[in-house]
Amino acid sequence: MNNIYAVKGNIIFTPSFGKYNIFKNSYIIIEDKYVKGIYEKLPTIYKDILVKDYGTSLIIPGFVDLHLHAPQFANLGLGLDKELMPWLETYTFPEEKKYSDLAYAKRVYSYLIKELWKLGTTRSVIFATLHKEASKMLMDMFNQSGLSAYVGKVNMDRNSPDFLVETTEQSLKDTEEILIEYSDKYDLVKPIITPRFVPTCTTKLMNGLGKLAVKYNAKVQSHLCENKDEISFVKQLHPNSKNYARVYDEAGLLGQLPTCMAHCVLLDQDEIDLMAKRQVFAVHCPNSNSNLSSGMAPIRGLIDRGIPVGLGSDISGGHSLSMLNTIVSAAQVSNLNYAIKRRSEKSLTTSELFYLATKGGGKFFGKVGSFEKDYEFDALVIDDSTLPIVKPLSLEERLQKFIYTGDDRNIKVRYVAGNEVLEPVF
Ligand code: GUN
Ligand code: FE
Repeated sequence: MNNIYAVKGNIIFTPSFGKYNIFKNSYIIIEDKYVKGIYEKLPTIYKDILVKDYGTSLIIPGFVDLHLHAPQFANLGLGLDKELMPWLETYTFPEEKKYSDLAYAKRVYSYLIKELWKLGTTRSVIFATLHKEASKMLMDMFNQSGLSAYVGKVNMDRNSPDFLVETTEQSLKDTEEILIEYSDKYDLVKPIITPRFVPTCTTKLMNGLGKLAVKYNAKVQSHLCENKDEISFVKQLHPNSKNYARVYDEAGLLGQLPTCMAHCVLLDQDEIDLMAKRQVFAVHCPNSNSNLSSGMAPIRGLIDRGIPVGLGSDISGGHSLSMLNTIVSAAQVSNLNYAIKRRSEKSLTTSELFYLATKGGGKFFGKVGSFEKDYEFDALVIDDSTLPIVKPLSLEERLQKFIYTGDDRNIKVRYVAGNEVLEPVF
């Protein structure tokens, strides 16, 4: 039997929103990159396969970050006392300009990918910058690392500073070149169409990107309804469109192909209905939404309406690349939302948030984020023996303690699509 092995430990994952499946001291069988089954005793047909025994460690799915800006890693923690639009102008655009310099880009991107590895983020959906060469380099580097990512060369052809803007023609040409060169180049790293947001993209550009999405069967990501001033600006730019989401929709960029929309803090009812109909992913970015005073996204309401939801660190609007930190922040925001809305929208539980950070976001990649049969095996081995555990805990409680009090030092091994991934070297 080739390419078949087992991992053994205390297995915990969420096959559905808020529901744990727990297997104490059990075996996951992996064949090629897929989970074949979970067993308490190793079946005799597998008696000769390699077993990687992780003892009393927890084995959990890898984390999925559905929204982050790679170049903004250099700005982590900076300038977060502003709202979105002034923050973009003062901190973000000047930093992104630097990625015309490949040596600078390589330095920041190496650090970022190592950090993602360290933090157990096995899959990410990423905004690069408008620079074609640095965006390609980021894809090559992800491929080299063994981590999985969708990487978007950003498009922006209006309302942008002179030092960070493209012509419509160049923007479409560069995007198409990347789609041709990279759509089938790697298994785990793919390009994604990335209009920055409506304020910085002309209708002509968005229409062109919508056509490219169809032509190359490419996924799409952008920002939607993050901030009040941003939404007013979109209304002013597109007075004939019903709302922000409809502007993307009219360009073929709202779920005609699989789509992720970051933030979704201030959606109206028509936008919620449209996202549900088109199965557009809403990416919840609680750290960013708190830091930039954007608001509290009505996540349970979106989930109840049938919209797929995942979590995003949104660095550097978010100040932490850690999905553990993002889960805790999402829990706190959801508790405040519950309190302030007079308890009309229930808080999100830890198991619900763990689902969003694994299988919820993983759905954007396919069968990812769970240990059900035929899922791609992305996993983290967690040694929590160094955490302050002073009384016996159930496996569910051990996971809670790791989420709230653990960090990357507890992550001992990472798997992506069936392969153990070692610390990247660039
Ligand atoms: N909207 C447009 N660009 C950005 C960005 O870089 N970060 C965030 N949080 N929102 C945006
Ligand atoms: Fe963002």
